Amino acid sequence: MEVIILPTAAEASEIAARLVARQIREKPASVLGLATGGTPCKLYELLARMHHSNGLDFSRVTSFNLDEYVGIDPTHPASYHRFMDENFFSKVNIPREKIHIPDGLTKDVPAHCAAYEQAIRDAGGIDLQILGLGSDGHLGFNEPGSSLVSRTRIKTLTARTRSDNERFFTGGMEVPHHTITMGLGTIMESRICLLLAFGEGKARAVAASVEGPVTASVPGSLLQFHPRAKLLLDAEAASLLTRTEYYQWVYKNKPAWQIDL
Ligand code: F6R
Repeated sequence: MEVIILPTAAEASEIAARLVARQIREKPASVLGLATGGTPCKLYELLARMHHSNGLDFSRVTSFNLDEYVGIDPTHPASYHRFMDENFFSKVNIPREKIHIPDGLTKDVPAHCAAYEQAIRDAGGIDLQILGLGSDGHLGFNEPGSSLVSRTRIKTLTARTRSDNERFFTGGMEVPHHTITMGLGTIMESRICLLLAFGEGKARAVAASVEGPVTASVPGSLLQFHPRAKLLLDAEAASLLTRTEYYQWVYKNKPAWQIDL
């Protein structure tokens, strides 16, 4: 696990954007795993800017989103289809047929989830998975207690996650109880995991994920088992870590052969 702490979310998002851009330049046909929510918004904005100003080309990229709410239409303002269109897909050139997001309206959830897993395998697996972290430690919508080897399936959101996400639901609509999410086993097969966490509301989940025991009670802690997991944190999200000075020293003093951003 590589822990990188930057003073602000904007600076951490810059590093994340450089990493994603480097991945695409090195492998134009990269398969990206994508997250929604507040955390990656700046990253998507920076990538869109790199596309327009620096010619970053997404035309051979394939994408798989982590999750979608069950029972809401892709055109619903709070759906993750809509979020991705508005924040990213409408601003870059990933071909529509290479974009994958779970279908929250599917009539056959198990078959749809199995097909989603198959599509990831058919694409050659995920090269780089962008992740946010729930304030309860969830990854994707794998809530505390999720099986550490789970695959794409339906999950029930915790009350805490539903209340965290109320801000995206206006007009009196309730946050759905269920989502379709990639599993922890699915996420762990990604070649690189890039987790972003910003703000003091994430500090406990970050500390438990990085310095606590690996446990299904904190799904983020499973990244301790990932061979290439990078965490990009702002100072607030990192505020409850105990080895901060060490992480900062390591990052500032990386030998040239180890620098990958
Ligand atoms: C979203 C997802 C979630 C979020 C997490 C953090 O696709 O899978 O795990 O990354 O809930 O959400 P924000 O970024 O809104 O704090």
